[in-house]
Formats: sequence, structure tokens, C-alpha cells
Amino acid sequence: MRSITAHRGDLTHERVDAIVNAANSSLLGGGGVDGAIHRAAGPRLLAACRELRATTLPDGLPVGDAVATEAFDLPCRWVVHTVGPNRHAGQTDPALLVSCFTRSLEVAAGLGAASLAFPAVSAGVYGWDVREVARIAVAAVSANPAPGVDDVRFVLFSADALAAFEEVLRG
Ligand code: APR
Repeated sequence: MRSITAHRGDLTHERVDAIVNAANSSLLGGGGVDGAIHRAAGPRLLAACRELRATTLPDGLPVGDAVATEAFDLPCRWVVHTVGPNRHAGQTDPALLVSCFTRSLEVAAGLGAASLAFPAVSAGVYGWDVREVARIAVAAVSANPAPGVDDVRFVLFSADALAAFEEVLRG
């Protein structure tokens, strides 16, 4: 039985097997949680992302997809990078955001991760309403088998984001 919880906190401090990074397609860092993760992981994370760009992802990571790297100086084992839809770029199809959560779960399951922590993907710079993100995220995580990933956490950076996820989890 999968545990799905939400709490306030900084994703870079979360002690789970894998954390999910709300990245951009370049995978070369940015602000928000992406910037926090790269700062906490150290320069080897950027080097690993550059290696992905030089090999398997020459055109970058597509919106809605996910790819894993090691986590280096972070307290977790892996970082699962996903690219959320950017509302400011006209990417308003909810299926793209569903795919971020589904693909991240699949990648985590492939790694053998038992615990996975998500931020509110697309609810920051990418301009999606955090209540819609919460509805989509909880539904996607609840519906996806992803064998072995039995502890899924939403780690929220603001009281409003936490309230949005708690409301959805209360049902
Ligand atoms: N821990 C947990 N959540 C965080 C943290 C953190 N340390 N820092 C920010 N957040 C929250 C934001 O408050 C927001 O609710 O993560 C959520 C996602 O916001 P962003 O990080 O801005 O991500 P997103 O909206 O998906 O935009 C991605 O922003 O940082 C750039 O490189 C990134 O271009 C990409 C874009």
C-alpha cells in the first residue's frame, strides 16, 4: 500500500531515496527548486547533466519526461529531473503535467527507489496554479502502480502550496 503525504519543507533536506527536480529542458540548472538542488548537490550534478546532454539527450529533456542522475552532495541517492509545462509558453495541457509525475514514478521504480519526494512541479516560475498542480499530482501518483515506490511525499515550500495539497489529500 503506497503512502502519499504532504509536508512543508525544503526538498534538498528530504531524506528519501530520490527527489524530483522541477528542471527545464536544458538540464543545465536555473532558479527555484532547480537552483536549490544544484547548489546543494554541488558541481558534480551539473557535470552529470552536461554528460546527459552530450550523450543520450543532445536536444535536452522534453516537457513531461524524466531522467535520473546521482544526487552527489544531497542526502538522497538520486535526483529525478523532470520538465514541467510552462504556462507562460502556452503549455497548458494538463496531460503534460500528469506525464511529469507518471514518468518520474516510472524512473524511480526503475532505479529501485522505495521513497520519492516531489516539489509542486510547474507551480512556480512556470506559472501553474498550485491547486491545479495538487489535483493533478495526487491523482497521477494515486493512479500509477510504479512497483516498489511505496513512500511518495510532496514537499512544499509555502503554506499555500501545503494547504492546496492537504486539501486534495483529504479528498
Ligand atoms: N524545496 C521545495 N520546493 C521548492 C524549493 C525547495 N527548496 N524551492 C522552490 N520550491 C517550490 C516553489 O515554491 C514552487 O511551489 O517548487 C515549486 C516549483 O517552482 P519552480 O522551482 O519555480 O519550478 P517550476 O515552476 O516547475 O519552473 C521551472 O524554473 O527554476 C527554474 O530551471 C527551472 O526553468 C525551470 C523553471
